[in-house]
Amino acid sequence: MFGLHFLLAVGLSLSSLTLGAPTDANCTRESLEAAVADLLTAQTTGSSAAIKALSPSVTYTQNDKAGTISAGILASPLKIDHNRSEYDTTACATYSELIVADKAKPYVIGTQMRFTGDQITKVQTLVTTTGDWLFNVTGTLYWSSKENWDPIPAAQQDTRAVIQAAADAYLDIFNNKKVVVPWGSPCARLEGGSYTGKGLPTDSCNVGIPSGEDLTNRRYVIDETVGAVDVFLNFGGATGLPDSHQFRIESGKIRYVHTLTVMTASK
Ligand SMILES: *[C@@H]1O[C@H](CO)[C@@H](O)[C@H](O)[C@H]1NC(C)=O
Ligand SMILES: *[C@@H]1O[C@H](CO)[C@@H](O)[C@H](O)[C@H]1NC(C)=O
Ligand SMILES: *[C@@H]1O[C@H](CO)[C@@H](O)[C@H](O)[C@H]1NC(C)=O
Repeated sequence: MFGLHFLLAVGLSLSSLTLGAPTDANCTRESLEAAVADLLTAQTTGSSAAIKALSPSVTYTQNDKAGTISAGILASPLKIDHNRSEYDTTACATYSELIVADKAKPYVIGTQMRFTGDQITKVQTLVTTTGDWLFNVTGTLYWSSKENWDPIPAAQQDTRAVIQAAADAYLDIFNNKKVVVPWGSPCARLEGGSYTGKGLPTDSCNVGIPSGEDLTNRRYVIDETVGAVDVFLNFGGATGLPDSHQFRIESGKIRYVHTLTVMTASK
């Protein structure tokens, strides 16, 4: 008995060392979900104090400008009409899309949060509103609510590598027309509030992509359970526009693209 317990104990600690240690993520889906629930409460109530896991030394950017989280968009209580989040349990990061369809003060907000240990150490947010690229909150709310970003059955889930590669191919084609993009069919792009699709099986995403644009400084949040990846980037080189491209990938192919692009630097 002693021998068996000893062996089991050694075996367990060996496996936790060899399997656990190098990528020990310190976050669970539950801890990430709790943080996002707090983010939504914070935005609804107008107080970042609602985010319990926030590190005292959290760094915050809003539209690529460094600031303090308590003085940013979270200081404004907003009624959220639609929200959707993805959870990256490998990188310990989250992405949330918040749609605020208030007629006087409409917003579509994209927020990435990153953890170190059990604390949120980085929050980056893009706040789009009237004047930003193709902004039309009515369209965003309508189309985003209609889409299916539900969990994908485990056996059909793509790997992180496949999901990221599909997103990268799409982002790369803006600067290299030779790139082969795994277009899905159907596929639809929601850019600001403008939709390339009609909600039909024939919808295509291969409809007009600019060229000569470097989409760089890519920051990924990947959630295999829903085939989603969000990429924060600069659109048009290192000092380019603050931008988010979010993708839903199904069986290696692009199903949806959502973009937020900040045109007005003063917000
Ligand atoms: C966020 O969306 C979920 C449905 O996906 C909903 O149940 C929840 O109430 C929403 N939260 C807020 C704060 O609007
Ligand atoms: C996990 O937490 C431990 C203790 O807080 C820390 O030393 C380690 O760097 C953390 N790992 C990651 C990936 O955050
Ligand atoms: C905004 O989107 C809605 C819904 O798709 C559409 O009916 C409306 O015409 C759009 N407004 C503008 C100014 O494009």
